[in-house]
Amino acid sequence: MNNEEILVEALRPAVGEYLDDAAIERLIEVPNNPEHGDLAFPTFQLAKVLRKAPQMIAEEVAEAMDKRSFSEVKVIGPYINVKLQRTKVGAHIIEQVLAEGATYGSQNIGQGEVMTIDFSSPNIAKPMSMGHLRSTVIGHAIANIATKTNYQPVRINHLGDWGTQFGKLIVAYKGWGDEAKVRANPVQELVKLYVEFHEKAESDPSLDEAGRAAFKALEDGDEEMLALWGWFREESLKEFQKVYDILGVTFDSYHGEAFFNDKMEPVIQELEDKGITEVNEGATIVDLSAEDLPPALIKKSDGATLYVTRDLAAAFYRKNTYDFAKNVYVVGNEQRVHFQQLKAVLSKMGYAWSEDIVHVPFGLITKDGRKLSTRKGDIVLLEDVLKEAIDLAYEQIEAKNPDLEMKDQVAHDVGVGAVIFHDLKTDRMNSFDFNLQEIVEFEGETGPYVQYTYARAKSILRKVGSDAKLTQAFNLDDDYSWDIVKKLGAYPQIIAHSMERYEPSVIAKYAVQLAQAFNKYYANVRILEEDDQRSARIALVQAMTIVLKDALALLGVNAPEEM
Ligand code: ARG
Repeated sequence: MNNEEILVEALRPAVGEYLDDAAIERLIEVPNNPEHGDLAFPTFQLAKVLRKAPQMIAEEVAEAMDKRSFSEVKVIGPYINVKLQRTKVGAHIIEQVLAEGATYGSQNIGQGEVMTIDFSSPNIAKPMSMGHLRSTVIGHAIANIATKTNYQPVRINHLGDWGTQFGKLIVAYKGWGDEAKVRANPVQELVKLYVEFHEKAESDPSLDEAGRAAFKALEDGDEEMLALWGWFREESLKEFQKVYDILGVTFDSYHGEAFFNDKMEPVIQELEDKGITEVNEGATIVDLSAEDLPPALIKKSDGATLYVTRDLAAAFYRKNTYDFAKNVYVVGNEQRVHFQQLKAVLSKMGYAWSEDIVHVPFGLITKDGRKLSTRKGDIVLLEDVLKEAIDLAYEQIEAKNPDLEMKDQVAHDVGVGAVIFHDLKTDRMNSFDFNLQEIVEFEGETGPYVQYTYARAKSILRKVGSDAKLTQAFNLDDDYSWDIVKKLGAYPQIIAHSMERYEPSVIAKYAVQLAQAFNKYYANVRILEEDDQRSARIALVQAMTIVLKDALALLGVNAPEEM
């Protein structure tokens, strides 16, 4: 039973006649000033029903309610404020965390159903951008949180592996490319060819024509073109894989745009059969003006299919293959309209499951406040960013704890964790500036700060030796431990909240707050003092490490035992 439920139970005898449990629970608040109480129940609503002054009702309810679970019940104006019996609540929560371990906080929101999650989805033959980093990190966290809430996640990398850029690339490669160079440094070399193509095309328009022809040949199945395309795809994927390995991210499917080449025709047919499409200047479109959206472009006048057509085919494929309960797309906010269109077209086709499509948008990573731009030479290679973060972490560890064992592994976890955590700690729609030096700091609201807190708590537990067990009644009632107990008790709600909103930042912020609460505790309480509260303190530290480690794990961040 969580704290709100305790209060609901206590209030039921007094107000159950007028409000059901859910209504009582919705009204419960947490006072801004913890000295007023742990929870408060406002009586405005009851006052309306009973036509009496709220203050008066507060007095009456306080009189009539069951007060056994509280150390204090106090009426402040129209509010009934309660303080929970700390040792009782604490015993309950700590015992539960220790008993459940890493499964503490799990809950059955998803009921075992499938959540397909489309994330990362970079474009072949281009470097993976910072935007793709955001998608990768957010999508990976959402998949972890989905597992924790009993969804079955299916991680899909919808690679951008088809399109006119391949025609251009093939022309550039065949024109002036060097096989050995491409083999040695695929993505960099391919990007170079692509950029050169555009430079040359400015003075030589015939190149564009050649690019279009090459793409057409590719679409028509020309073997040489297909072989080159396959090679570019494979080499690019190898590069992306390096980044995924560093981040510890995996996928269940790499079906990208090309996979749907032969799966669009039936969709277009169905759209036409259902009379949803129109032909406009030779192009096939779905008019969405009733939905206040621009028309969805299904087929160009030359027969070429489009991004949304592929996504329609992909949505059907996912529904048929996985029978998802939710179909999630972690893609930048720039593509908001695209996903609205996708949903609207499916809805027009009569599929109720269009409601289960969820676009999870996010803001930009900026540099000195402005948008990163490939043209301005802001191409940042992700692999380099991550490696630099690891180096910076190594320097800090070298300075703080030169004798640490497994320094390389710890530096890896801290450097990579810092980048991930920084991305996830702000609401995903906010844009943020990327400053590596700040991200890897051990102080402030950073990943390394949380990791360091975990390692510090673990070192206390190592001194105690064998697993901390609660060998006596939980008897802590001081403010510092109570703050930790309350936070640990809130963990299941935090997870539910972050899943409902597809918002990993809820968990990241929580992890910072839990770490801060622990560090206050650590600074003010002598944890290992030999007295009759020692066992309870150790159990509290133990429970804290379980939850902190799990919160980091959900975000995709490792927690080193020592650092
Ligand atoms: N490749 C696209 C891009 O980089 C993202 C694809 C997102 N997924 C999708 N099903 N449309 O912009």
